[in-house]
Amino acid sequence: MWLYLAVLLALFFLIRWYREKQTVENLREKYVFITGCDSGFGNQLARQLDLQGMRVLAGCLTQKGAEELERVTSDQLRTTILDVTSTESVAAATEWVKRCVGNKGLWGLVNNAGVVHPTAPNEWLTKNDFVKVLDVNLVGLIDVTLHMLPLVKKARGRVVNVASILGRLSFYGGGYCLSKYGVEAFSDCLRRELRLFGVKIAIVEPGYFRTGMTNLQNHLDSVERQWTNVPQETKDSYGQTYFDNYYKLIKESLTTLCSTDLYLVTDCMEHALTSKSPRTRYAGGWDAQFFYIPLSYLPTELADLVLTWQWPKPAQAV
Ligand SMILES: NC(=O)c1ccc[n+]([C@@H]2O[C@H](COP(=O)([O-])OP(=O)(O)OC[C@H]3O[C@@H](n4cnc5c(N)ncnc54)[C@H](OP(=O)(O)O)[C@@H]3O)[C@@H](O)[C@H]2O)c1
Repeated sequence: MWLYLAVLLALFFLIRWYREKQTVENLREKYVFITGCDSGFGNQLARQLDLQGMRVLAGCLTQKGAEELERVTSDQLRTTILDVTSTESVAAATEWVKRCVGNKGLWGLVNNAGVVHPTAPNEWLTKNDFVKVLDVNLVGLIDVTLHMLPLVKKARGRVVNVASILGRLSFYGGGYCLSKYGVEAFSDCLRRELRLFGVKIAIVEPGYFRTGMTNLQNHLDSVERQWTNVPQETKDSYGQTYFDNYYKLIKESLTTLCSTDLYLVTDCMEHALTSKSPRTRYAGGWDAQFFYIPLSYLPTELADLVLTWQWPKPAQAV
């Protein structure tokens, strides 16, 4: 019986591998719009797809980011300035994309732009701290998608949404995890709605990678800033030792956990855009694939133990 099972399993993987290897035709004629191309995954994906000859339309937050990207890519790649938190900026970028793609429609929309700060224990934050992150990572992503969808439907194309393992397991305070859980929910619903229009939605869930977002100094400065502003009563309940150990934990985690191989994620994005059979979800990176995503299926109490065993103890812990 085990032999039959093994053969069936091997057959399943073989067929899946073969199906996923088939790429869509005329990739060089297809347009892909990517948000957040100044740095990190967005920047690398723009360069990667440009090298493959696809028509890349890159949304950058800053003029400097756009100029630097244009400098290292072909004349075919075009950039525009896009702040996903501004509906005027999103509408202007949509008009620009519309002009670029003509009546071909937009084959790929990659919602990649994101921010992480401020992040700290929830009690150290204010409502505005949450809103700031949700505005970019979730509401901005929804706004861009709603504006661009008619163009994607025209091409019967793809939407690739960048979530995170933190959209599966929430263990950082602040808006980041909430935003990524939201991206998962929005993408799942959109996939079910757009299936019959021939539009495919893929979610990419990266683990820890060294990008602008995981810059160590920015994290340390951010958590220090939050701690400074915490009301005295809250400060007393955590205690200075808690803060010192929390600071040390962030420093150690970000120094040791981040992979520098961004291709582990951008290759997933590329597959979602170019394969005839894209996946619904991509685990980006070894940590996502073999640790965080399996952990998210464990009983909650067990997952809690694994995720928090190193956390410092507050002064008023019972
Ligand atoms: N790095 C990781 O470990 C990790 C893990 C899981 C998921 N992710 C996700 O991956 C995506 C890309 O992040 P990354 O890691 O590549 O970090 P990154 O290097 O900081 O890239 C994020 C990009 O978004 C841009 N951006 C920020 N606010 C924006 C706004 N309002 N409108 C438009 N663009 C904006 C940034 O521009 P500036 O550079 O000019 O600020 C930057 O180019 C994000 O959605 C992030 O949540 C990252």
